[in-house]
Amino acid sequence: MPQTIPTGCGSLDERLKGGLRRGNIVLVYGEAETGKTTLAIQCSVNCARMGYKTIFIDCDNTFFARRMAQIASGDFDELATQIILMRPQNFNQQAFVIDRLAEYVGEKVGLIVVDTITGYYREELSGNMTRTLKLNRELNRQMACLAQITRAKNVASLIVSQVRSVVFENADVTMQPVAMRVMKFWADTAISIWPTTESDKIRVNVEMRSKKRVKPTLLKIAEKGLQDYRK
Ligand SMILES: Nc1ncnc2c1ncn2[C@@H]1O[C@H](COP(=O)(O)OP(=O)(O)OP(=O)(O)O)[C@@H](O)[C@H]1O
Ligand SMILES: [Mg+2]
Repeated sequence: MPQTIPTGCGSLDERLKGGLRRGNIVLVYGEAETGKTTLAIQCSVNCARMGYKTIFIDCDNTFFARRMAQIASGDFDELATQIILMRPQNFNQQAFVIDRLAEYVGEKVGLIVVDTITGYYREELSGNMTRTLKLNRELNRQMACLAQITRAKNVASLIVSQVRSVVFENADVTMQPVAMRVMKFWADTAISIWPTTESDKIRVNVEMRSKKRVKPTLLKIAEKGLQDYRK
């Protein structure tokens, strides 16, 4: 059984020491249109190529067969049978799906994707403190459940989160994953994706739990998915 699922981008796989590791949760966060879903589909396709299934929990309704076909090239029909797509329509259904995940994760499953885990959560936020605490607790519970399955079933998990901008006292602005403390608590590794001045070029940063600094890499969003950027 292979221990890692490659993303297919050499420079990123090198930083991830081979790719998405079984038993680990990788958090992917970044602004809109930076290639998060593309990366998730690409990893699912690579997992399928290795003969393992992916459970893809598509909370954003953005897993398009057409996009997968571009990434899978000629092997769409064969690879598509390896991807089990789940489409919760609200935060309650998302909880329901995650709670029952253990029933679906058999030996042939190599990867679990949640894209995005914070979409419905964010829709439910209302500014009311008690409600926010309740939603945070629920999100934390879902992440705990995913972490438990990831370890117990020895699968890789790729969890996508949206970002929110945070303004510091000195007026610096940065992007953080929504519900950062919850998300980073459970993640073994985080991949942050940053836009550049060119729309098809992204800067990708790998953040290790050990806080070891890793040099960012540049990737290109192309028809066949994400690839190493070459000038
Ligand atoms: N066939 C293609 N060839 C090149 N680029 C493409 C192709 N299909 C989509 N893209 C680009 O990929 C980007 C969107 O990628 P993706 O949907 O993975 O982003 P995302 O980070 O998941 O966005 P969101 O936050 O909205 O979910 C867009 O910039 C789009 O132009
Ligand atoms: Mg997306």
